[in-house]
Amino acid sequence: MNTFNKIFCLLFAVLLFASCKKDDPVVVPEDVKFTVPSNFPAPTYSFSSNEITQSGFELGRRLFYDPIFSRDSSISCGDCHISYSAFSHVDHITSHGINGLLGKRNAPAVQNMAWRTSFFWDGGVPLLDLVPLNAIQNPVEMDEVPANVVRKLNRSSVYPAMFKKAFPGLDTISGADMLKALSQFMNMLVSANSRYDHYVRGESGGTLSADELAGLALFKAKCSTCHATDLFTDQSFRNNGILSDFTLDKCRYEVSTFPDDIGKFAVPSLRNVERTPPYMHNGKFKTLEAVLNHYTSGVKDTPSLDPLLKQNGQLGIPLTDIEKQQIIAFLKTLTDESFSTDPRFQHP
Ligand code: HEC
Ligand code: HEC
Repeated sequence: MNTFNKIFCLLFAVLLFASCKKDDPVVVPEDVKFTVPSNFPAPTYSFSSNEITQSGFELGRRLFYDPIFSRDSSISCGDCHISYSAFSHVDHITSHGINGLLGKRNAPAVQNMAWRTSFFWDGGVPLLDLVPLNAIQNPVEMDEVPANVVRKLNRSSVYPAMFKKAFPGLDTISGADMLKALSQFMNMLVSANSRYDHYVRGESGGTLSADELAGLALFKAKCSTCHATDLFTDQSFRNNGILSDFTLDKCRYEVSTFPDDIGKFAVPSLRNVERTPPYMHNGKFKTLEAVLNHYTSGVKDTPSLDPLLKQNGQLGIPLTDIEKQQIIAFLKTLTDESFSTDPRFQHP
């Protein structure tokens, strides 16, 4: 579409919208349209029961940045999930909650949630709509009772009108609608605009250097079984050898109770990984160099270690120093600046 057509369509859309909703501020409907990037698989979220609307998204965004969810109104979702770092938490090894209490796990990025089959490092939450309940009730995160949050929302001077607009029909705010609104906001957090994405989709701006291409080839050969598809995770639970003892966190086992699952963690996506240190569930590594050194020479041999990391009896993934640098160069092509700075996703 050329610029003239774009302007024309935009004007048309604005006029159309303005003419049917006279009292509302003018908003372009396409603003919050959820689209599936052509290099992504089909999403897993059931949009039929919670379609994204402009007012639902705006409500979800306001909730995401509101400390109303925490017992003493001190901390919001957005305090631990920060847009610059793809909605992860960078300044602490593990996340930092109410009263400065530290959790045992690093806050993961919140991006491309609509494609996920489970949530949390242990996969203990099967649906995105249920994730906030865990954060709200967790004593080291927000330490609040969900019913109390609903009471606070109903008493607020702004929320009743916002909920009525987003979910017409109900006179009081319900917990279910609160969770739906948060999901609408989180589902819109799609990161698919990195240089790598432009490269695979054959779009302009998609040029990779010789080192980045070499890194991509190495990544495909050595890493992509686990960090699979353009989501960069196969969404399985695996032990990549970062610990020799799991007394502190048995992870997947705590959900499944299969002894084979002791020490298995969800394979994280590597999108925006340049922006999301520290790395691993426990924030063990500060740099990507340290992560690559781990894969070549730091892998710990325990019963649940993934067989891919112990091939032919040899621990780890052999890589030269140059190959490590090439993989890191490739990983940095997954940084999506437009995602982190998207004005729609910032504190309203
Ligand atoms: C104190 C910091 C903190 C706060 C506040 C917080 N989170 Fe989190 N969040 C975390 C941590 C830590 C995890 C990982 C937990 C785990 O795996 O056990 C997480 C996980 C998640 C995930 C799953 C990501 C994944 O890859 O599995 C989502 C989605 C999420 N949080 C959304 C929210 C929402 C919505 C709120 C507000 C209602 C919120 N968080 C509040 C720290 C926080
Ligand atoms: C056997 C499966 C497997 C293979 C192969 C694998 N990874 Fe991982 N990777 C994981 C798991 C599981 C984690 C999370 C472990 C944890 O936090 O305890 C992870 C974590 C990471 C992280 C940290 C991400 C974050 O947000 O904390 C990076 C970076 C990473 N891997 C890069 C690589 C690279 C590069 C390769 C290839 C050289 C590779 N991985 C090969 C399973 C694998």
